[in-house]
Amino acid sequence: MNSPHWTATGESFEPADSEAVDPDDYETVERRVLVIGAGAAGARTAIELVEQGVDPEALLVVGKRGHGDAHTTWARGGVNGALGTLDPEDDWTIHAADTLNEGHHVNDPGKVETVTKRMPALLRELDEWGMAFSRTPDGEIDQRYFGAQSFRRTAFAGDHTGESMLDTLVERAQALEIPYRENLFVSDLITDGDRVLGAAAVDIDTGEFVAVDAEIVVLAAGGYTALYSRHSSRDDENTGDGPALAYRAGADLLDVEFVQFHPTGMVGNRYGDEWDGRLVTEAVRGEGGRLYNSGVSASDASGGSGERRSPGGERFMERYSPDQMELDARDVVARAIAKEIAEGRGTDSGGVYLDISHRDRDFIEERLPRMHERFADLGVDMAEEPVEVAPTAHYGMGGVVVDDAGETVVDGLYAIGETMAGVHGANRLGGNSLAETLAFGEVTGQAVADRLAADGDGAGRDERTDALHARAGAHFGDLAALSGRDGTHDPEALLDDVRDLLWTHAGILRDGEGLREALDELVGVRDRASNLAVGDRTDRSFEFALDLGFALTVAEAVLRGALEREESRGAHFRTDYPETDPAWRRSVVIGRDSVGAMRVDTAPVGTPSEAVQDALDAGYELDYHQLE
Ligand code: FUM
Repeated sequence: MNSPHWTATGESFEPADSEAVDPDDYETVERRVLVIGAGAAGARTAIELVEQGVDPEALLVVGKRGHGDAHTTWARGGVNGALGTLDPEDDWTIHAADTLNEGHHVNDPGKVETVTKRMPALLRELDEWGMAFSRTPDGEIDQRYFGAQSFRRTAFAGDHTGESMLDTLVERAQALEIPYRENLFVSDLITDGDRVLGAAAVDIDTGEFVAVDAEIVVLAAGGYTALYSRHSSRDDENTGDGPALAYRAGADLLDVEFVQFHPTGMVGNRYGDEWDGRLVTEAVRGEGGRLYNSGVSASDASGGSGERRSPGGERFMERYSPDQMELDARDVVARAIAKEIAEGRGTDSGGVYLDISHRDRDFIEERLPRMHERFADLGVDMAEEPVEVAPTAHYGMGGVVVDDAGETVVDGLYAIGETMAGVHGANRLGGNSLAETLAFGEVTGQAVADRLAADGDGAGRDERTDALHARAGAHFGDLAALSGRDGTHDPEALLDDVRDLLWTHAGILRDGEGLREALDELVGVRDRASNLAVGDRTDRSFEFALDLGFALTVAEAVLRGALEREESRGAHFRTDYPETDPAWRRSVVIGRDSVGAMRVDTAPVGTPSEAVQDALDAGYELDYHQLE
């Protein structure tokens, strides 16, 4: 047997003579629609399909983990929608304007409108479905301040909004009897070149191969920020599956150089490696939390008794953003923190202080229960002392190119949630990721339901099924050759190499020289990846090997996109091009050229509607000092 090796673009294993696996030797599941992803985007899409009259038995939702165990649960601080509970002058056009301003005007204005217009109704719908929103004394859905938003627009459930939202959606999906299959790792999408035929997967519990024969595939498989060494998600989610699977199937990627670094991740040196980079929700700052450097003064910055541990330093956001302070855009606050640390004003553990101890204990326990509890478990009382934070890779604004209904250029293949691109531009408003999952879940669900109704029941299925088995069998042959491979390199260690090179060269600050160096280093990783040591198909090393394939594709796209964009805009800061260049109000599109290598192009972005332009012209912005 020949050794598996990586293709020129690092996308997949292609053992020269691996033997195709016979359909009798793997399980085949037939459904009209396959939804890949266990989070909110996948759940909301499936719910919409059934509410539009699609038989639940025609669907299958799959995830690598149990139902409801997805990255959505780590989204904490809230979900945006212009309900106007506390600020009645807010409306969806101002939400759209804030989203475009935060995205530095390379968002797709149509997609922004799709989200912002729908959100008030979608929040009320979640409320009807039983979501445990935090309430005002009048019983309305409460809304808090979040960064760079003109009004209190972020609805929340304490500081466990994502968890509460996903619980609600999963309960709804279960009530509608939508089938969910766990432990299924989708390793490839199957197409005939133009049209999706289904997907190939491995049951990571049993090691069995599974082919899903489906007319429609909805990719809701998350983003790619776990490809950075410090990241806010768990290590085995957001590893680039969604964008890589779509790219491999023939879709293009858009603006993947825009990677959001959340300003406040936990500091591993202080709280332990397992917590390194995990989110300290923006809600801490939205509820009044203040950032301090280590400073030189020993005085208590919050004016306390001196007995409690004090940040003792300078409230440095006064220097960077006197008007919006800690609630300026995430890129601004993250760069400010990184600068304080780089210039020696950080803490001994390599962070800065985030302090909310000037608020009452009851207030903190009610509004930030999970944060309070987590730090209490680590021996830190947030009501008495500050916590230590530093920026962490949090969200990929870029992703797969889709149309207004979420469909890619591959017929029948849709991408939504963090897998798709377009809503967030160069930077994302906190609270808009959960919003996007709901809004595009509804839109894509409706579009797919209409299409199924128009297509009739499974016409032309036999022909497609034959093509599916031919391709799935060949892919499973490759995977069979990969499992048990007795090579030299540990796939997990190579994944860490990818993470290190992205963090070092495509992080908060980048430049051309570093990006080129990283592309060279990536060639080295790819080379080592041709000689992997892999266990059997239930072994973690097998999953890591598949993750590595996704990682190599997406890392290359991030580096090439970042190199192409010779300007600074939002989360993409090039020290060699520190200004925003109006001529660069364009998107970077990554596809494949005729020999399968990455092709980098640019494309213009659209213009907002008149209503949103009016809101932009009105110049709304957050007045931080209302919070003080
Ligand atoms: O900080 C947070 O709670 C994150 C929210 C978000 O990214 O939307």
